[in-house]
Order: sequence, then structure tokens, then C-alpha cells
Amino acid sequence: MPPAAESHPPLRVALLGCGVVGTQVARLLTEQADDLASRVGARLELVGIAVRDTAAPRDATVDRSLLTDDAEGLVARADIVVEVMGGTEPARSLLLRAIDAGAAVVTANKALLAEDGPTLYKAADAAGVDIYFEAAVAGAIPIVRPVRESLAGDRVRRVLGIVNGTTNYVLDQMATTGMDLEDAVKEAQDLGYAEADPTADVEGYDAAAKAAILASLAFHTRVSLDDVAREGIMSVTADDVAWAAQTGHVIKLLAIAELRDATPVGAPAGVSVRVHPALVPTSHPLANVRGSFNAVFVEAESAGELMFYGRGAGGAPTASAVLGDVVSAARHRVLGGKGPQESTYAELAILPASAAVTRYQVRLDVDDRPGVLAQVAHALAEHGVSIEAVRQPTAPGVSDVAEPGVAELLITTHAAPESALSATVAAVAELEPVRTITSVLRVEGA
Ligand code: NDP
Ligand code: HSE
Repeated sequence: MPPAAESHPPLRVALLGCGVVGTQVARLLTEQADDLASRVGARLELVGIAVRDTAAPRDATVDRSLLTDDAEGLVARADIVVEVMGGTEPARSLLLRAIDAGAAVVTANKALLAEDGPTLYKAADAAGVDIYFEAAVAGAIPIVRPVRESLAGDRVRRVLGIVNGTTNYVLDQMATTGMDLEDAVKEAQDLGYAEADPTADVEGYDAAAKAAILASLAFHTRVSLDDVAREGIMSVTADDVAWAAQTGHVIKLLAIAELRDATPVGAPAGVSVRVHPALVPTSHPLANVRGSFNAVFVEAESAGELMFYGRGAGGAPTASAVLGDVVSAARHRVLGGKGPQESTYAELAILPASAAVTRYQVRLDVDDRPGVLAQVAHALAEHGVSIEAVRQPTAPGVSDVAEPGVAELLITTHAAPESALSATVAAVAELEPVRTITSVLRVEGA
């Protein structure tokens, strides 16, 4: 049992940032002070909140007397530093300063961790202090701790998930209300899901940062943002969304990290990490992840399949994850002990995007005459891409092909390497009867 809170001096908590997340962290630290003290064995005293503009309007729950624009000074007088300001600098320097001064650090900053996590982990190791970052991946969902600690005795094979609330909200709104992409992004910003620059969300950088963090933990190998093959959702059209529905799919932005064994034909072993929009069958659990919710599947050799689901963005859900980390770090201050260190012993190779193997759905407009389908099929066969199904749909109101003499083909392939598919698409586009390749989407979860 932790010692009575009164028997241990209060632990000083510095909060860097008081935006969507920071406001909720400050509120929970205040409103739940007694419970937290009982759980930790010491009171958690919020000693200051660093912001850019101390005069800006704040939520009524924020104690304005704690606001300061002197983040460096604040960090120097804390036992635990919580960074929810975002961006690379000054967040990195402030965290390093905190670590050097012996403070434990908690951060929600996936962009910083995916870019330069090892610098922070090394510094924390050298100083013997905790670094926790549960909120950096999938908001409220406990996923970092399960992968980092609960599955530390297993061998993770694959992590597959929806890890960006903004893009899931946008794609869901497009599918269910017909809203266009820009309006849905604006709504996600108003709801506090989007990053300060929503490009990070819609271009897939945010999901890629989270994929890098999860892959590093799952495969005991350093994976950085640059190692992640990334495509965002900007090229997803209303027509793609309508076609997905027509064929029993929804479009989701997926983050996928896989361990691949070497194959007998010479493909090397390693880790493949990618983020891209994909068609997911409506029967798959990921298809039913709505709004800003996130879900992550983990496949491990002994545990089998695990699924984690919950709110992936927003102030209070993210603050819940931050507070969990604060309690862990605070308990170590009171009772001794330390959280896990970075684990990179496996040093697996990072495979290029072209090595990823998946199924595809290719939509194309062709001349509507005999022999065209055979030509297209021949081009696929020549590149070793096997066809699973071909449809020549005529769905009214879905296909935008109105021109007489033009047919729309929808080809679903069996699993093929990305490199083979790219070569195939290039070859098909060159065929004389092919007018346009309208879209190429991966199919996952089938
Ligand atoms: P906001 O933009 O809402 O808030 C950022 C806060 O940091 C503001 O209070 C801002 O001050 C302060 N700040 C920014 N730069 C500085 C600086 N140089 N010096 C002092 N203060 C600074 O961001 P969020 O709360 O949405 O996100 C914070 C972090 O949490 C990010 O790393 C984000 O990726 C992560 N995160 C966010 C989630 C979400 O749903 N929003 C979910 C999971 C993680 P001021 O108020 O004066 O402008
Ligand atoms: N912008 C992020 C998202 C916040 O939409 O998921 C949570 O990390």
C-alpha cells in the first residue's frame, strides 16, 4: 500500500501547454487531487503552466495565477514535467532540460518522439528518470503500455490500426453524410481532434509518427518517421467513397507495421511500416470504427489477436492517458523503481515500401469493345499480378462514366508486392484502349 499522502512531500508537476489537452490535464490534476494523492502516496502539486500567451482567454477551470511564459524557469522547479505543447522546439530542449535536472517526463508529442525519440530515451536512461508517452499514440487507448510491457514476453507479428482521429472522422463524415473533405476537416479542428496544422493529419504524418512509435516498441527496433511509407487521404474522392460502399467496403486510413520473414525467393526479413488509405470490408471490425475513434489490432505469436478500441483524440480522453503516466512516474518517485527503457536490441532491417504485399482494387475507364478485358488481364499476368475478380459495374449515380463506348472496370487483385502492382498499373495505363486509371486502392482486412 502506498504511504499516506501526508508522509511524503508533494511532488511538483510542471505543465507545458494549456491548449486542447493541457487544459484538461490541469482540470483533472485539480479536480481529482485527493484521489491522485491516495493513489500515488503524495500530493501532486501543479506548480505552473507554460503557455505562449499568458493574456489569452482560457477555460474557466484554469487557475490563471499558474500561467507563465517562462517555460525554462518552470521546468527547473519540477519533479514531473508534462509536455503537451507539441512541435519539435522548444519541446525537445525543455524535455532534455527537465531530464538533466532529474525530473520524470510525460509527453503526448508523437511528432517529436518519431523524429527524435532516441535522444530523449538516451538522456532519460543516463539520468535514471522515467519517460512516458501513452498519450502519443491513439489518445485515450492504452496501447503503448500493453505493447511495451504486457507483450514484452511475446513476439509481435503485426500491428494494424486506425490511429488518427481526424482522418477517421473525415472519412466517416464523407461516407455517411456526403460532406466534402475540407468541411469535415474544419469540423475536426473545431472539435479539437486535429493537429495545430491539420496537414499533419490529412497527409498521414501524424499516423506515420504513431506507426513509427508502435513499430519501434513492437519490434524492438528503431523506426523513425522517415522509415514509414506514407500516403494521406487528400487523394480520396467522393467517387472513391461511393464506390467503396457499392462494393461492400469503407475507406480507412490505416497504419500497418509487420514483421516479415525472409522468403525462399530471396525477399529479406525485416519490418514493413506504412500508412495509407485502404478499402476495408464492412464486415471487418475496423469498418465500424466511427468518428474520431481509433482501434488497433495487435497479432502476437502466443497471445494471438488483441484489439484495442476507444477515443483517439480530444482533450479529456488524451488527458486521461497523460494522467495515467503522471501517476506511474509519481509512484516511482514515492516508492522507488523506474519504467522501461528503450529496447532496440533486435535491430531489424526496415523494408522499403515496394516490398509491402497487399491486395488492390484498380478502377479504370476503357474502350467498351471486345478483347479489351483480355488485354488488361494479360498486362497483369505479365507482371505476376493475379486477378481475384473483375466487375464491369453499371451502378447508376455511382459511376461517372457517361460517355457512350466507354466502360468502367473494377479489378480486384490477389495479394501482390507493391513494386509489381506499380509496374502493372504503369503498363495498363499505356494500353491503347485504356482511357484513365481512375483509382488504385489497397484492400486490407479481407
Ligand atoms: P494546442 O495547440 O491546443 O495547445 C498547445 C499549447 O501549447 C498551447 O497552450 C500553447 O500556448 C502552448 N505552446 C505552444 N508552443 C509553445 C511555446 N513555444 N512556449 C510555450 N507554450 C507553448 O495543442 P493540443 O493540446 O491539441 O496538443 C498538444 C500535444 O498533444 C501535441 O503534441 C499533440 O500532437 C498531442 N496530442 C493531441 C491530441 C488532441 O486530440 N488534441 C491527442 C493526442 C496527442 P498558447 O495557448 O498560449 O497558444
Ligand atoms: N490529431 C490527432 C488525431 C490527435 O486526429 O488523431 C490525436 O493524436
